[in-house]
Parts: sequence; structure tokens; C-alpha cells
Amino acid sequence: MPEQKKRCVVLGVTGGIAAYKAADLCSKLVQSGYDVHVIMTAAALELVTERTFFTLSRNPVTVSLWDVPVWQPEHIALAERAELLVVAPCTANFIGKYAHGIADDALTTFALAHTGKVLLAPAMNPRMWNNVAVQDNLKLLQSRCVEFVGPEAGRVACGDDGLGRMAEPEAVLEKICQLI
Ligand SMILES: Cc1cc2nc3c(=O)[nH]c(=O)nc-3n(C[C@H](O)[C@H](O)[C@H](O)COP(=O)(O)O)c2cc1C
Repeated sequence: MPEQKKRCVVLGVTGGIAAYKAADLCSKLVQSGYDVHVIMTAAALELVTERTFFTLSRNPVTVSLWDVPVWQPEHIALAERAELLVVAPCTANFIGKYAHGIADDALTTFALAHTGKVLLAPAMNPRMWNNVAVQDNLKLLQSRCVEFVGPEAGRVACGDDGLGRMAEPEAVLEKICQLI
């Protein structure tokens, strides 16, 4: 299918240890026929590489607000095309910034310019997930019709047990297909 006819999905990758799962999600989205554009935070780049997502998505990856190849900033150009923003993994930090309208990097700035659907796949230590600030931010976003998938219960990377594991890429894809 020509790229311009494909449905455009922006995959935001934030700095959670589950960022490796985002590569699988990216691949599954492309195989499902979506035009996938990836925006990574600086923390995500500490955990996984831009090249992985460039290769899997077959599109340039946005890692900086200031890396503008054409006259129109990428966060605005993409906002005109994207039907859905999925942030996976989604950190406590992103949830907090998005809930409070902060736009201090490419992903949070895009999120504020985006008018389509938003799906977040939180992933964090269970103590972070249960923090009252995170739960309050979550309720604020739910009241604005932001969709969530996960987190799931189980053992997290640091060894703790509880709610905090990112939903599996298959479950995130299924939710995306329901939403658009
Ligand atoms: C090894 C490592 C793993 C981390 N994993 C998580 C995580 O799973 N979830 C989370 O919310 N924060 C996690 N953090 C903390 C975030 O990276 C940190 O809050 C960062 O500011 C997030 O930035 P971002 O939301 O712009 O990506 C981790 C930090 C480190 C050093």
C-alpha cells in the first residue's frame, strides 16, 4: 500500500526498562500495515537505539525538537497526519508531564499538538505506580479520555513483584486495532 494511504501511528518511546518491548511493538505495527513514526525521549536513548526503530519503522526517528529537516517542525507535521499516539513504555515522568501540559522535548510537545487518540502503556516499579501523584495524574488523564493498556502484575526488572509490568506488545497492538 502507498505510504500516504496507510494509517499513521506515532509510537512514543520513553525511558523505561521495557523500551526493548517497543521494538517488537514497532515491528508488529509495521507488519499490520500502519505507517509508524517513532519519537524517542533522551532517557529512552539510554536504553535502546534510534537505529533499531529507524530500521523497523522504515521512517526517520525523531529524537530532538531541534532536528528539523524541512521548514515545518516534525511535531507539527506529524500532528496533522497521526491518527493515534501510543506511548510504550510510558514512564511515570511522561504521565506527569502530559497530565500537566508540559512540553519540554519532542515527545511531550508532539503529544500536546496531537488531536487524535492517545493510548498509554505504563511501565514502572510497583511502588512508583502506587505513588499517589502517579495515581492522581492517571485519573486526570482518564477524565480526558486518554486510553490505557496495562500495567500488568508480576515480577518487574528490579526484582519487585506487583502492578507495573508493561502490557505485552500483542495486547498493545490489539488495543490499537480497537481504537483506530
Ligand atoms: C535503568 C533504568 C530503568 C528505568 N526504568 C523506568 C521504568 O520502567 N519506568 C519509569 O517510569 N521510569 C524508569 N526509569 C526512570 C526514568 O528513566 C526517568 O524518570 C526519566 O526521567 C524518564 O524520562 P522520559 O519520561 O522523558 O523518558 C528508569 C531509569 C533507569 C536508570
